[in-house]
Amino acid sequence: MYKQLIKPILFLQQPESAHHFTFGLIKWAFNFPILKSILQSLFRLEDSRLEREVFGLKFSNPVGLAAGFDKDAKLIDEMAMLGFGFIEIGTLTPKPQEGNPQPRLFRLPEDEALINRMGFNNGGVLGAIERLKKRKSSVIVGGNIGKNKVTPNEEALSDYLYCLEALHPYVDYFVVNVSSPNTPNLRDLQEKEPLKKLLLGVKTANAKHPQPKPILLKIAPDLTNGQLDDIIEIVRETQIEGVIATNTTLDRSNLQTDSQKLEHIGAGGLSGKALEKRSTEVIRYLHQQSGGAFPIVGVGGVFSAKDAIEKLEAGASLVQVYSGMIYEGPSLIKKIKKGLLLNLSK
Ligand code: FNR
Repeated sequence: MYKQLIKPILFLQQPESAHHFTFGLIKWAFNFPILKSILQSLFRLEDSRLEREVFGLKFSNPVGLAAGFDKDAKLIDEMAMLGFGFIEIGTLTPKPQEGNPQPRLFRLPEDEALINRMGFNNGGVLGAIERLKKRKSSVIVGGNIGKNKVTPNEEALSDYLYCLEALHPYVDYFVVNVSSPNTPNLRDLQEKEPLKKLLLGVKTANAKHPQPKPILLKIAPDLTNGQLDDIIEIVRETQIEGVIATNTTLDRSNLQTDSQKLEHIGAGGLSGKALEKRSTEVIRYLHQQSGGAFPIVGVGGVFSAKDAIEKLEAGASLVQVYSGMIYEGPSLIKKIKKGLLLNLSK
C-alpha cells in the first residue's frame, strides 16, 4: 500500500514537507486506540531468534532507526510500535539550532537516494530530554551527539560532554558523531589525534557515572583504508564499545541522476541505495582488519532483507535504516525481520 498509494502522494511534496507530514500522520494515527492496535498488529513480528546482545545491551531485534529521522525524540513510542529494535535520536547539540537554509533535502529517485545538508537542525538536548522522560516504550534508545555550528573544533569536547551529561540518565548508548558533512570542519575531528582526544574525554566522563553507557563512534564512508586502520587503533586505545558505519557520503560517482540536476542540488551527504556498496565495504574492512575486535552497527542503503543480511555477514552486529524507509515504507522493518528468520532456517 505504501508504494502504490502513500509514496506517490508524499513524493509530490517537497522532501522536508513530506517528512513533517509523515511525522504528523504517524503521531495522529497512533492517537486512536483502534488504529493503533491495527497498525501494531500489522507491523509486529516478535521472535526470540531475532534477539541480540551487543555491547552489553539486549535488543529485541537487530533492525534500528538511524539518526536524523527522529532527531528530537518526538516519535520513540510510535517507532517502537512499527517494530524497530532500537531508535537513535539526534544528532543533538547543546543549544537548539536552525540548521542550513531550505531547501536542504533532495530526492534522487533514479538512484533511490537522498542528498541532505540539514546541518544538525534540532531543538537542543534539553528539549529532547523532556520528551524522553515521557516515553512509555522500553525500546533501546541511542543518543547521537554533536557540537553546535558556532562552537570551534578546539572546544568541541565541551559540547559533546554537555550532551553526554544531560542525556546520560535517559539513553542506553551514545554515538559520537564526527562524520556529518554538513557542519563546517566537523569531519576534521575524524583525524587521528583530535579524535583520540575527543573520545578519551567522552570515555573518561562516562566512566565517572555509576552505570557507564556504551560509547560508539559514527564514521564517514569517505575514509581511506589508512584512515580506517587509524579508527581501529583508536577504538582499541580509547576502549570505546563500537563503531557505526556509515554516515552519508560526499561521493557522487556511479549515479544515474543527471549531472546538471546534481550540480543544481549542490552540497550535501548522499544516502540510500547508492551508498549501500561502500558502507558494506567499510564494515567488511573494519571487521576483517580488526579481527572482529568490536561490534559494528551497519547503516547505508538497507532497502531489503538481503541488504541487511549482506551487512550482517560482512561483520555488522546490528543494522539501521533511514532512506530505505522513505523509498520502501515502514513495512520494510518487518520484511527485514522475516528475511532474517528465513535466512536462519536455511
Ligand atoms: C541523516 N543522517 C544523520 N546521521 C547522523 O549521525 N546524524 C544526523 O543528524 C543525521 N541526519 C540525517 C538527516 C537526513 C535527512 C538523512 C537522509 C540522513 C545519516 C543517517 O543516519 C545514515 O547514516 C545515512 O542516511 C545512511 O543510511 P541510509 O539512509 O542509506 O539508510
